[in-house]
Amino acid sequence: MKPVTLNTLSNLKTQGDTFSCLTAYDATFARCADEAGIEVLLVGDSLGMVLQGHASTLPVTLDDLCYHTRCVARAKRHSLLMVDLPFMSNVDTAQLLRDAGTLMRAGAELIKIEGEAWMADGVNELHRRGVPVCAHLGLTPQSVHRFGGFKVQGRERDQAQRIIHDAQCLVDAGAAVILLECVPAELGKAVRDAVAAPVIGIGAGAEVDGQILVMHDVLGLNSGYVPRFVKNFLSGRDSIPDAFRAYHEAVKARTFPAEEHTF
Ligand code: KIV
Ligand code: NA
Repeated sequence: MKPVTLNTLSNLKTQGDTFSCLTAYDATFARCADEAGIEVLLVGDSLGMVLQGHASTLPVTLDDLCYHTRCVARAKRHSLLMVDLPFMSNVDTAQLLRDAGTLMRAGAELIKIEGEAWMADGVNELHRRGVPVCAHLGLTPQSVHRFGGFKVQGRERDQAQRIIHDAQCLVDAGAAVILLECVPAELGKAVRDAVAAPVIGIGAGAEVDGQILVMHDVLGLNSGYVPRFVKNFLSGRDSIPDAFRAYHEAVKARTFPAEEHTF
């Protein structure tokens, strides 16, 4: 299998094909996901919740993300490695560039940033220096306290228009990928149609270019509350590699997400 690059993802979009993405935080699970054919691995700051036991992603540090990036980078072969910038990396452009540089040196190949159109200058500075950026819109978990909880975004018309506008501004500034979290399926499709860059969705419906889930959710390891967009792919199967393959195949065949996983 050839290594996945940004070109692979944009060719898939152009052909009307889809791709799968999964979070990974260590070498063993990263190898399983890579061998299952999953195109993009994300060292997400969700590690604050699923690994460290925090109630949000805010406590995760750059050192935490670097440590897990190194673990995943050693194991993956063909998947593209995307890594989150931690909360408040965007206090200013200098900090943003330094933090992204640190993650790239640790093995990141694509840097994910939460932020709206106002992040366009920072995205452009990264782009100019050779750092590809994924802009995360919709439910951005680092803003959970502003939202008053993990809530679906873009239900109202002006909010939806603003998200489409943010995606366009950030792609114009150089963002290579958009990630949309917890928005109505109709808005997912509108963003996909509005930008040339591939759009990855989580709880954003079936009509986006790629899908992503947190690894623990794919394995049914939720603590109590199970979000609507999640599916346990280990259920009815007897190994983790099988579950990862089933997730990848379901995304490729567009049988996941189904209506029941969609807002
Ligand atoms: O941190 C993370 O796992 C994420 C995904 C949920 C997209 O940002
Ligand atoms: Na994240």
